[in-house]
Amino acid sequence: MDAKVYELMNEQIQKELYSAYLYLDMANYYSAEGLEGFANWFYIQAQEERDHAFLFQTYLLNNGKRIKLLAIDAPEGSYTAFDQPLDATLAHEKLVTASIHNIYDAAVSVKDYRAAEFLNWFVKEQAEEEKNADDLIRKYELFCKDGKGLYMMDQELAARVYAAPTLVLD
Ligand code: FEO
Repeated sequence: MDAKVYELMNEQIQKELYSAYLYLDMANYYSAEGLEGFANWFYIQAQEERDHAFLFQTYLLNNGKRIKLLAIDAPEGSYTAFDQPLDATLAHEKLVTASIHNIYDAAVSVKDYRAAEFLNWFVKEQAEEEKNADDLIRKYELFCKDGKGLYMMDQELAARVYAAPTLVLD
């Protein structure tokens, strides 16, 4: 396996785990504010990010590589408005998309089509993650001008259930 592709994938484990940490922090913020539906949405998001990290880890292990776990920063947190984590989520997912595309570029440049095939799932997943983040922002702007709207959106987000990733690596 190409050294650069390996290095970027190993770093991606850290980035996905940081994403989990970030969303856990957002979930904790909403929970502390009494918005358990928003908290539920972000607790599940944190689980998805952990899954993403594990997928990269499994891919590397399956290809005979060792994993070097890197330090994970603490999230900055300190939110003062309910829509701040939503905006931060979209901005963060755009960074993750760029990171996935960067690994894809590295893989294709050395004709590592196995890695490219693996990464295809993440390319699609990122499109969905950005759309989900954008949808949350738009719904908040449209419906959460008052307490009733906020309550309704919180109820809706409470219904999200965790689903394991559709990509399965043995
Ligand atoms: Fe694993 Fe939200 O990117």
